Parts: sequence; structure tokens; C-alpha cells
Amino acid sequence: MTIKLPSRRTVLTLLAVAGLSLVLALVFGAFRIVRTDGGNREQAVESVSLPTPSGESDVSVEEAIANRRSRREYDENALSRRELGQLLWAAQGVTERTTGYRAAPSAGALYPLEVYVVVGTPGVDDLGSGVYHYRPENHELARRKTGTVQSELRAAAVDQEFVEEAAIDIVVCAVDERTTGKYGERGRKRYVPMEAGHAGENLYLQAEALGLATVSIGAFSDDRVRDVVEAPSDQRPLYVFPVGGRQ
Ligand SMILES: Cc1cc2nc3c(=O)[nH]c(=O)nc-3n(C[C@H](O)[C@H](O)[C@H](O)COP(=O)(O)O)c2cc1C
Repeated sequence: MTIKLPSRRTVLTLLAVAGLSLVLALVFGAFRIVRTDGGNREQAVESVSLPTPSGESDVSVEEAIANRRSRREYDENALSRRELGQLLWAAQGVTERTTGYRAAPSAGALYPLEVYVVVGTPGVDDLGSGVYHYRPENHELARRKTGTVQSELRAAAVDQEFVEEAAIDIVVCAVDERTTGKYGERGRKRYVPMEAGHAGENLYLQAEALGLATVSIGAFSDDRVRDVVEAPSDQRPLYVFPVGGRQ
């Protein structure tokens, strides 16, 4: 019986395929690609859980509304993780597990908003400076960027200095397509900006109840803010909220 050995060409081809597979496995195996809602693809290098939000406060809704002000001066202290978690919950947290409904109303419950946090130095206890994406479903953060980026955000927001002076900046972006798919242009022109307003007022009132200071900022370059938080190109920045302790 004669055993036919593979030709030199076949052996070389097999070796090349094996080599290429190894390189691809090494490259893609280094990243765990996680799909979050809305196709916001992230390399989940690090996720940070946030303390369970509280449903109670010593400050009544009426007091928070009456005392709310835009505050542009902040102390030097870091926020606690509890405060950060409470703010994010007020903006977009899930308040009904069974339905996934959130703290702020949303046309068709389509939830077009994505919330990012730019953390300064000192920004938040036990949280490195950088950019994080809020994931409402798990009430957690996914780190997107490490390092000092508040100065870039300040520059993007027509150099409003309090953007850099705050402990953190909360950036509210929107994926218009989630809403226009059902409501067309009316969704983009009306519903999505209305929803950012709801989230924004919740943030103001939650900051007030926590004794913190914040201001809503609409003056900025959309493209530059998107770059700073590394939001995908289908996301439109709508609001920036510097938050810090009151002076
Ligand atoms: C859509 C919108 C955009 C705003 N943009 C800015 C801004 O870019 N910079 C700023 O300092 N304040 C900004 N503000 C805050 C207003 O200046 C502030 O709400 C107003 O002076 C009334 O003060 P009050 O919020 O304390 O009641 C904005 C407010 C809104 C509603």
C-alpha cells in the first residue's frame, strides 16, 4: 500500500491558514466585545458597579423644586460613589424591573438617551479619572477612557471654566434612530430633546436633594463633545451637567 503524502504547496497553505487563525485569535481574544442596548459596542475592559439607589430623602420634591438653581461654583471634594449612582439613577435608572421602565419618561418607552460620566481629579471616591458609560440595566459603569479629559470637555463647551472645575461632568447623548424608527422626524425634533429635558430636570432635582451643585449646559460643539466621551457616530450630545460639592 502506498501512502500519498500531501504536496509541499498543500502543507504551506495549511501552515499559512493556521498562522493566520492564531494571529486573529490573539488579536480578538484580547478584547471582550459586549453588546449593550442600542448597539453601543464597547470593549468592556472594566465595569464598575454602583451602590443600590435610595428611594428616600430628607428633602421633599417641593423643597427641591423651590430651591433648585443653576450652580456654577464647586468645592474641591470628590463625590461618593453613592452620590454618583443616585444622580445617574435619577437621570436614566431603571425603576421598574419587570418592564425596564426608567426614571424619566420616554416616547414609546424607546429610551434613546445614553449617559456618560467624565470623572475629574479628585472626581469620585475610588474611581479613576476618565470617561465612563452608564448602563441602566445593571446600574453600572463601563470604563471607556482613562486619564484627565475635563480640560478637553471644557474646550468643547466654549471654554466654560466650571466644566473643568466640577468633580464630574454628566454628558447626555441621544440615539435619534431609536425614536425616529417609530415616530419619524417628530421624534428627532421634539420627543428626543424633550426626553433630555426630563432627564436633565431629574438631575437638577436629585443634585438639589443631595446638597450638590449643578448646571445644565447646552453651549458646546457636538462633534468635540462626542469625541471626548468616545460616543459612537450615531449619538448626538444634547446636554453637559458639571456636578460638584457646593461651595
Ligand atoms: C437648554 C439650556 C441650556 C443651557 N446652557 C447653559 C450654558 O451653556 N451655560 C450656562 O452657564 N448655563 C446654561 N443654562 C442654564 C441657564 O443659564 C439657567 O437655567 C438660567 O440662567 C436660569 O437659572 P436657574 O437655572 O438657576 O433657574 C442652560 C439652560 C438650559 C435650559
